[in-house]
Formats: sequence, C-alpha cells, structure tokens
Amino acid sequence: MTVGWHRPTKLIIDTQAITENVLNEVKRLPEETELFAVVKANGYGHGAVPTAKAAIKGGATGFCVALLDEAIELREAGIKGPILILGVVDVSYIDLLVKYDLSVTVTSQEWLEQAVNQLEQLENVQPLKIHIKVDTGMGRIGFKTVHETKKAVELVQLSEQMIWEGIFTHFSTADKKDQAYFNKQNQRFQNVLTELAELPRYVHVSNSATALWHPENAGNMIRFGIAMYGLNPSGHELEASYPLKPALSLVSELIHVKELSANEGIGYGKTYTTSKNEWIGTIPIGYADGWLRHLQGFSVLVDGKECEIVGRICMDQCMIRLPEQKTAGTKVTLIGKNGDKEITMQDVADKLDTIHYEVACTFSERIPREYR
Ligand SMILES: Cc1ncc(COP(=O)(O)O)c(C=O)c1O
Repeated sequence: MTVGWHRPTKLIIDTQAITENVLNEVKRLPEETELFAVVKANGYGHGAVPTAKAAIKGGATGFCVALLDEAIELREAGIKGPILILGVVDVSYIDLLVKYDLSVTVTSQEWLEQAVNQLEQLENVQPLKIHIKVDTGMGRIGFKTVHETKKAVELVQLSEQMIWEGIFTHFSTADKKDQAYFNKQNQRFQNVLTELAELPRYVHVSNSATALWHPENAGNMIRFGIAMYGLNPSGHELEASYPLKPALSLVSELIHVKELSANEGIGYGKTYTTSKNEWIGTIPIGYADGWLRHLQGFSVLVDGKECEIVGRICMDQCMIRLPEQKTAGTKVTLIGKNGDKEITMQDVADKLDTIHYEVACTFSERIPREYR
C-alpha cells in the first residue's frame, strides 16, 4: 500500500515508552525469566522492527510473531535472538524455518511426522527448534491431552534434527477478575508438566495479563504484547499493577476550514445538519486509514478542546465542528494529549465497542509511522 508521506496525518510512536514498559516488567521478573516481545501484526500496528529494537533496549531477549513472514522480516532487519512463531506454519516451509533460525509452534502429531520426513531430505542444516503448544482451554490450537503431548515430545526427542526448545499454553481469561477458569487452565497445564520426564529450556504461559495479574506463573519466559505498547490488557476491568505508558499517538491537521450557516448538510447521506452558524474543519483521515465510520459523533482535540466529528466519515477525510474560527494547518490530535486533554486508544475502542488491540491493528499502512 502507498504510504501517505505527503499529508499531515501520522502515527507518532514513542519508542522510549516501549523501552520503559519492557524495562518495568523485566524488573519484576524472577532472574531466570526472559521477556519475549510480541511484535506480530506489525507490532500491533506500531511497526514490528522499531518496536523490537525498542524492546531490546528494555531487556527483551526474544520475540514472538504469528506468521513466518513476520519472523523473516525481523531477521532481514538484523534482529538476532530467538524468534518464536506462535501460529501454525505449513510444514512445506521447514527449509525457511531452519534457514532463518526460527522456533516453531507445533500443535499436531501429523505435522511432526511430516517434519521429520522433510528434515531428513535437507542436508547439513541446523536442527529445527520446536515449541509444543498445549490447549488447556483456549480451544484454538494445541495438543489436548497429556497422552498426545507426551507422544509429541517423544517424537521430537527421538529426532536428531529437532531441538525441543519449549512448551507452552495460552490463557483466555487472565485479564478477568474471576479467576476460576484461569485456575482450571493452569491446573491442566501443570498436570501435563508433571507427566513429562524432563522439561525444555522454555516453559511459558504468560501473555501481558498473566504477567501483570498472575506473576507467580511467570515460568522462565513471558510473551509480553499489549502492555509493552502501554495498553492495559484488561481494558476497564482490572487496574495495571504499575503505570503503563501508551506509545502511540495519532495526529493530523485541519486542511480546510469554513463557516456554514444554519441548515447546511455535512458529508455523505447528509446525516448532520448545522443548527446555526458553525465553523467546520476537515481532517485528512478516513476509513481507508482505519479511522472507521462508527467514530462519527466521537471527538478529536484541537487547541486542547474537544471537537465533535460531524457527518459520516469518508474514505480519506472527515469533518469536525470547531468552537471558533481556526486556520488551516492547526494541529488535530485524534489519539494522545493536546493541552490538558487526552484521548486514549481505550476511548476509541469504547466508542467502537471493541478492544484497543483491534484499534491499534486497524490503522492502515497508508498512515506513516514516525518514531521518536
Ligand atoms: C499465544 C500468544 N501469546 C502471547 C500473546 C500476547 O498477548 P498480549 O498482547 O495480551 O500480551 C498473544 C496475543 O494474541 C498470543 O496469541
């Protein structure tokens, strides 16, 4: 996608905030526990490579991504250290996994058997690093039973071309007050571990929520995602154990300002009509940038004042009602601080009836990312 370098809308990413968030978590961890920064989905929209570099400064020793291509992007940018792919990778790409020294999540016996065959055909390659995923109740991917898990581990240990590097699970309710289901998943995982004769280098269960609210479960590696970007994984339900610093702000400028008299329509469908003389400003951001139509009626900040988005949000532009005349070029803050006011990613998520994870990932590549 073409990046809109030549218009004033941009995402500003505070890499220092990412470093600080990682550092604050690393300080809380037991000494033997490593932090892997989760930078999938282009670093939750913040940019995978700059985020990974900022995380290294805070003490991250490895990385998690969802896709093989995301892992390759990190390696090609010179990122060293372990990279774990959390999603299922087609077994036909084993040569790439080995070539780029990537760790892969394994969730089925069939995959492992095919991998053994494939690896036998490759000559003089490093062993493939395997993390066994146990599905303790997320219902997504992973081995369901102790028996299946043990069989998979045995096969990995038998193969000279595989290294059993990790075993892990993922909690679905670590961000909730009610801990009953978390405890059930945790118990299931402990049951699997006690049945295994030995354990690999990494035993890991923690996403951000588990790290924040169940630190006793840290294992020897945590997969730290949303909190690294300064966002509370629980939304409004639980308070973060220490202050998280949001890394992302979204800014633009007024590109056009006009005074309309009463009874003038604004935007497609004429869903807003001026009730008196009103100053209307236009901002160059729209739903093609990830600034979605449901944000009609939400506010942005101009000179420290909230201004309502009026009329439908267009593909590339939207209109706001200004409290008074402003000049084109005046700064507009859509997410972040402006004067004494702040609009957070959580505010945007609340308006869209979703979670801030989704908001962060929805900003399109068309918006340039500026790193500070
Ligand atoms: C398996 C796994 N681990 C860790 C994470 C990171 O989660 P969070 O961003 O909530 O820290 C994710 C994110 O979706 C995940 O799928």
